[in-house]
Amino acid sequence: MPTKARAHTNIALVKYWGKRDPQLMLPQTDSLSLTLDKFFTDTTVTANGNLKHDRFTINGQVVDDKNAARLASFLDIVRQLAGTDTRFNVQSINHVPTSAGLASSASAFAALAAAASKEAGCHLNRRELSRLARRGSGSATRSVYGGLVEWHRGTSDQTSFAEPIMEHVDFPLEMLAIVIDASQKKISSRTGMQRCVETSPFYPEWRKIVTDDMIKMKTAIDAHDINRIGELAQENALRMHALTLSANPGYTYFEEQTITAMRLVDTLNDNGLPCYYTMDAGPNVKLIYNNKDRQQLIDQLAPVFGKDRLIVAKPGPGVSITQL
Ligand code: DP6
Repeated sequence: MPTKARAHTNIALVKYWGKRDPQLMLPQTDSLSLTLDKFFTDTTVTANGNLKHDRFTINGQVVDDKNAARLASFLDIVRQLAGTDTRFNVQSINHVPTSAGLASSASAFAALAAAASKEAGCHLNRRELSRLARRGSGSATRSVYGGLVEWHRGTSDQTSFAEPIMEHVDFPLEMLAIVIDASQKKISSRTGMQRCVETSPFYPEWRKIVTDDMIKMKTAIDAHDINRIGELAQENALRMHALTLSANPGYTYFEEQTITAMRLVDTLNDNGLPCYYTMDAGPNVKLIYNNKDRQQLIDQLAPVFGKDRLIVAKPGPGVSITQL
C-alpha cells in the first residue's frame, strides 16, 4: 500500500548555517523558522520487493544520478531503522508557484522521511521523525512542525531535533517572497555553509550571535511583536550573509535585484511602513510584516518587480501522512 506525505517548506528567522558533524547532520547552532502554507511537497512512497534499486521522480521527471544517490543513501537510513532491505518507488511533486525557485530540500526531505518511514513499517513520533528528516537536510528537521519552530542543535543524533514554539500562529505574521531569480543556486547551501565554517574568521562570532538571537527572537514571539521579529530576522540574515563575504574564497548569493529589494524595504520602513527582509542561499528576498500592511506593500513592490513575482505566504501546518 503506497504511503503519501505532505510537508511544507520553512524560512528561518534565525538561520542554520554550518554543521559540526556532516555525517550525522548536527548543526553548529540552534535555529528558528516559520513554516509556510504556500510551498509544499507531496511524496508518495511504495515499497517494492522486486526492485533492485530505489526509483525516484520529481514532478514526473526521473531524478539525475547525483540526486538519486543522495536520496538512496537517505533511504538506507530508513531501511536500517526499519530492519528491512526492500527498495522503494518514490514520486514527489513540488507545489511551488510556477518556477518560483523556492522549492526546497526542507519540504522534500520532511515529506520523504514521513512517507518512507511509515511505508517501511516504522511508527515514529514527531520528534523521531524530525531527527530522521535532519539526516536528509538540516532545514527539513523543522518542516515536521507547523508555525514557529525551534531546532535544538543538540550534541548527538538523539538530542538534535526540532520542537514547535507556536504551531498555530495566532497573530498576524506574514511573509511575502520576491522572486528575483528562479534558477538553481550556483553554490549549494551545503557547500557554502561548510566553506564559512572552515574559512570565515567571523564564524566563532556567529555562534555567539545565534545564541543571543534565539533568546531575543523567542521573547519577541512571546510578545507577538512582529516588528521586533522582523528586525531581528533581518539582522540575523545580514550577519549570515556576511559570513559568505568573509569566507575564502568569498562569495555572495545576492544579485543586483536582491540589493534593490533590500534598499526599497529600508526606504518603506523609514517612511513608516514596517517591513523587514531575509534571504537564504539564493537571491530571492522574503519580507516579514503584519498582514494588515499586505496591500500597501504589494502596491509599492509591484511596479518594481512585477506582480507575478510576488508570492504571499501565511504560516503553514506540519507534516501529514495518508496511507493510500
Ligand atoms: C540558508 O538545510 O538546505 O536556508 O543541511 O546541507 O541540506 P543541508 O542545508 P539546508 O540549509 C539551509 C540554509 C538556510 C538557513 C536555514 O534554513 O536555516
